[in-house]
Amino acid sequence: MSRGNNSCGATPPQSDVQENRNELLDRARRIGSATPRPFLRWAGSKRAHLHHLVDLIPSRYGRYFEPFLGSGALFFLLEPTRASLGDACSELTATYEALSQNPGLVIRHLRGLRVNKETYYAVRGNRSRGPYKRAAEFIYLNKACWNGLYRVNASGEFNVPYGRPKKNQSEDYPNLRECASKLARRAVTIANADFEHVLESATEGDFVFLDPPYVTRHNNNGFIDYNERLFSWADQRRLAATAQRLRNNGVHVLATNAAHKDVLKLYRNFDKYPFDRRSTLAADTRKRGMVREMIFSSRPR
Ligand SMILES: C[S@@+](CC[C@H](N)C(=O)[O-])C[C@H]1O[C@@H](n2cnc3c(N)ncnc32)[C@H](O)[C@@H]1O
Repeated sequence: MSRGNNSCGATPPQSDVQENRNELLDRARRIGSATPRPFLRWAGSKRAHLHHLVDLIPSRYGRYFEPFLGSGALFFLLEPTRASLGDACSELTATYEALSQNPGLVIRHLRGLRVNKETYYAVRGNRSRGPYKRAAEFIYLNKACWNGLYRVNASGEFNVPYGRPKKNQSEDYPNLRECASKLARRAVTIANADFEHVLESATEGDFVFLDPPYVTRHNNNGFIDYNERLFSWADQRRLAATAQRLRNNGVHVLATNAAHKDVLKLYRNFDKYPFDRRSTLAADTRKRGMVREMIFSSRPR
């Protein structure tokens, strides 16, 4: 699943961040009211930490790559005109694809879904096949489920319980339309693929943001089960090797991960910028605390 074309005859336009870095920082700090902003809740979202990243974004870059898209916090902040996006979660990429193709239809389906326990379980237990209705259901379930967690059972069915949301959070239709317009740009592609596939075409001068499921084995950051099933240590090593290769090819790479000694070794040639995050995913609130994370940059600030 992809749109757009990476190869244009003329020199492609560069994104110029330097001129509007202060504006980006301002938007990053008030992301809750900014437009566009992520319309999904997602485990490990960088939504609340964008201000840590803004200073490290290159002043100018060619194409933007985000192969672990999740809720797309940095993509929606930067609004790049040329981007290669991807995620291994097929429900997620299908939702972005459907929204970008026909936001009006997705919103129409969304309007028909009441936020209450009965509707939630009825939708969860009987998902539609049509892409626009299914995308609306995905957004609805994401907003109404417990803690915005995406979890499926052995048959691949979404099985997170109802979260008793205080208000109908799916009703942010202007933001949904704005997000759709950024995703629908001609030179923006969305792939349901492994990160290596998405990164194949990154070349000198491009900017790659890597925000994988974190290493958790020795550093409990609150979503161990979700992560360990999804992204193994071998995947982490494969990712770090890819980041190193891109760096050697003149690609500007920013990667995030847990601040664990084994991860620091994987990114030993990268500059390191620590920050702290409040963990929110543990069911038991007493287990929620501050977790140290790290941004790895291929170039000094
Ligand atoms: C920490 S989340 C990304 C969060 C995102 N930066 C945001 O702001 O919401 C990691 C994402 O990686 C995806 N993922 C897991 N394994 C993957 C793989 N091998 N290739 C690509 N994406 C993968 C997950 O589905 C998840 O959406």
